[in-house]
Amino acid sequence: MTKPGILVTRAVFPDLLERLSHYFEIESNQEDRIFSEQELAQKMRDKDGVYTTPSERVSAQTIAACPKLKAICNMAVGYNNIDLDAATKAGIMVTNTPDVLNETTADFGWALLMATARRITESEHWLRAGKWEKWRYDVFLGADVHGTTLGIIGMGRIGQAIARRSTGFGMQVIYHNRSRLSEDLERAANHARYVGKEDLLRNADHVILVLPYSAASHHTIAAAELALMKPTATLVNIARGGIVDDVALIAALRSGKIAAAGLDVFENEPKLHPDFLTLSNVVLTPHIASASEPTRRAMANTAANNLIAALTGGRPANLLNPECGAAKA
Ligand code: GLV
Repeated sequence: MTKPGILVTRAVFPDLLERLSHYFEIESNQEDRIFSEQELAQKMRDKDGVYTTPSERVSAQTIAACPKLKAICNMAVGYNNIDLDAATKAGIMVTNTPDVLNETTADFGWALLMATARRITESEHWLRAGKWEKWRYDVFLGADVHGTTLGIIGMGRIGQAIARRSTGFGMQVIYHNRSRLSEDLERAANHARYVGKEDLLRNADHVILVLPYSAASHHTIAAAELALMKPTATLVNIARGGIVDDVALIAALRSGKIAAAGLDVFENEPKLHPDFLTLSNVVLTPHIASASEPTRRAMANTAANNLIAALTGGRPANLLNPECGAAKA
């Protein structure tokens, strides 16, 4: 019997390809070229499954061009790069990699928050540039983290993991989410208090964004929202580009409407707005919140398990669209 054919769209851990090869005929991309949308559609056209990453856009048009396709397995918890409705209508299973990255991503949210509030990278650049000539009482004064109010927008599993970590810092946690958590979950999340978005922006000393991207969350933080924040506040985005209006944020950072930002994701990444590079009050990282070695391996294995289940007659553990119907023959 011939093995199902799959496309692995980007470079992956080599041992993962070895494992997948027991089940599939693989077209891989270890040279890690970025495919145009057209090229992606052309490569996917005769495949049964595809292993994707957040940087491939799988549009309705691409899906329509792939009559054999049965599964799209994304190596990420976010899946806004895939047209889920179009896949569902075409009877294609779509999966993501939730849970395995919660704690690592929460750690990173804290790393970015601390680096931003305490001006870690800005001061390191200054030191490396040979500018440190003497100790001064007012050099790189930052904001406190302990004892302050943390505002979390998007209180899913990662948001809750961030809140749990705040107990050691003696912080108050306020959060905004599509729906309120149960009392038990709020208690476990350092007694987080549910508030409206405007309340949160007005009262938080540090705001962290952990919500999924969708048309509804586009520009959740734009000029009007930034105007509500304290001039001493910091904003951290570990969610997705597009949740923040980057042009409005650049203006707010420049004019001192807010003190600083820590950003792991950007509009149009990796080609982020060049003005970010000219600002000293922003910490910039290249979409690495889940990038610890064990977690990236766990994500890769989860995506592979989903693909194997989907194409061998099983039900993938992380199926996002059970309503897509029975797998195609
Ligand atoms: C990474 O950004 C993810 O969604 O897992």
